[in-house]
Amino acid sequence: MLRTNIFRSISWIIDRLTLITPCGARQATMERIEFEPTVVWRARLDAWDERSHAVQQSLAKHVNGSGITLSNRGGWHSDVISHVDAALEDVINEVTDFYRCILAQLGWRSAGTAEVTCECWININPPGAWNIVHTHPGWHMGAVLFIDSPPACGDLRIIGLRESLGLNVGPEMPSEAAASEPFLRRGIDISPRQGDLFLFPGWLPHQVLPNRSDADRISIAFNLNCGLDQT
Ligand SMILES: [Fe+2]
Repeated sequence: MLRTNIFRSISWIIDRLTLITPCGARQATMERIEFEPTVVWRARLDAWDERSHAVQQSLAKHVNGSGITLSNRGGWHSDVISHVDAALEDVINEVTDFYRCILAQLGWRSAGTAEVTCECWININPPGAWNIVHTHPGWHMGAVLFIDSPPACGDLRIIGLRESLGLNVGPEMPSEAAASEPFLRRGIDISPRQGDLFLFPGWLPHQVLPNRSDADRISIAFNLNCGLDQT
């Protein structure tokens, strides 16, 4: 009888402990069901170092006038480029190739032959200039290719959709914990290298932080859509 009572007491204590300790036995009975992951793809264009000068010369032909104002603050933003030369056409073809790769990676078997629509424009951000938070509405994916990105020229900041909507995403966590746990991430800052191409969903809020270097940050931004059947 005494032994039974002791056993029950121990069981009761163990039960209580599993309720108050975060990694108790209950952990083993929980399944983590993930959905709606957000992905940003980083790609490198072929032989970028050898090509970058020709591409910069190509862009220089389009830099004239006062530009337009959209997400740019303090920087110059071209209209959508309507005529492209060979160097720029190569870049656009490569960007659409990476886009097709992503579509294939996501499961579309006809991605290689799908009709892709792409438009692009130039951003020149002198020291202090930046791009405010924005999306690429109506487009499947957005992309940005960093042509000239000196150190401290400003990170590409991706903002989580929940954060951008101002929803309660839970208590603040130490940044190192949030960095290692995708569920806790409110966003991510990525330092661009010259020749880096980033592709991301068109609905994903993003910005480019102020240029803290003493040289211009130059990039080409893209909108991408495709016509795909279900295969
Ligand atoms: Fe953008």
